[in-house]
Amino acid sequence: MISIDAIRTPILADLAAFDEFLKGQLTSEGKLMSEMLSHVLSSRGKGVRPIIVMLTSALTSAANSREWVEGERNCTKRTYLAAMLVEMLHTASLIHDDVIDGADTRRGRPSANSLWQSRNAVVLGDYILAKTMSAGMQSAQYDLVSHIIGSVATLCEGEILQSQHTQERSTTRSSYLEIIYKKTASLISVSASAGAVSVGAERKDVEQMRRFGEALGMAFQIKDDILDYSREAQTGKPANNDLREGKITLPLIEVLEQCSPAERLQLLDKLSQCATDPAAVDFLQGVVEATGGLAMAARTMQTYINRATSILAAYDESPYRTALINLCAYVAERDR
Ligand code: FPP
Ligand code: MG
Repeated sequence: MISIDAIRTPILADLAAFDEFLKGQLTSEGKLMSEMLSHVLSSRGKGVRPIIVMLTSALTSAANSREWVEGERNCTKRTYLAAMLVEMLHTASLIHDDVIDGADTRRGRPSANSLWQSRNAVVLGDYILAKTMSAGMQSAQYDLVSHIIGSVATLCEGEILQSQHTQERSTTRSSYLEIIYKKTASLISVSASAGAVSVGAERKDVEQMRRFGEALGMAFQIKDDILDYSREAQTGKPANNDLREGKITLPLIEVLEQCSPAERLQLLDKLSQCATDPAAVDFLQGVVEATGGLAMAARTMQTYINRATSILAAYDESPYRTALINLCAYVAERDR
């Protein structure tokens, strides 16, 4: 399986510089706030969004015939800024998401809300969001900042749409696709296009990177939803969180679409018991596995992966294009 380390290889020096840049931003006065920020910095994930920003900036600046030297620092300040803005928005959104979901863990470590209570975690998320806005304004790179910042509203819309459909148990394929676009694919799409904007790429390349990121982001969330059903996955989260939260995601939608109206009602009734009844969770997990829900969802995911890689095929071969193609494969194959 392709490793995330292999994907990072052509931009290692830039990623190291970026980590320092990010550390410099996430500082504060006050003991508790400093403690919370250092927890946030030490529990960062794979950094997929900054990796995407840097690789698409390299890809489209090569298309712009600027020289990139492998293994050296190549990014301009604008690219670091773009990577920082998307990473901080993502971080703030997950801190709030864990409060909303009442999640105790994130990436195998205690969540901010479990360590410092929801009331502090909400303000921590707000603080990171405020720092993001302020870093953006101070940079005076208004074209880049306004390209990225619109995604905050889209993330919020996705979260509320998901909440509404979960409460009503009304998620269909089309509302599911809208939700995952808004809560996940929109920011990945903005990361990919912001990489291009940061190097002054042509409008057509910005658009191609937007489409690439959207397809990759859709696949990324579908894979996340498949992994939620996989008890052997190494996600750092307990399996079947989505069922316990009453969320209808693609593996279950694939099954519901094959059901008679009566079977559908029976499954939705089971779903309403999942928050309190582990036997209902086991039952639905079993049905989704046995009736091919996971395999069908994986096929849908693969159509998005194919779309993303076919967009990359139009670019000349380079270590950055290879890394982005490998990222597509990694998203499809990952177990965490
Ligand atoms: C994770 O979903 C959540 C998101 C991708 C988006 C959350 C967005 C908000 C809470 C809106 C607020 C935004 C900002 C910028 C403060 P999940 O619960 O399906 O994934 P998980 O299993 O990783 O928790
Ligand atoms: Mg969550």
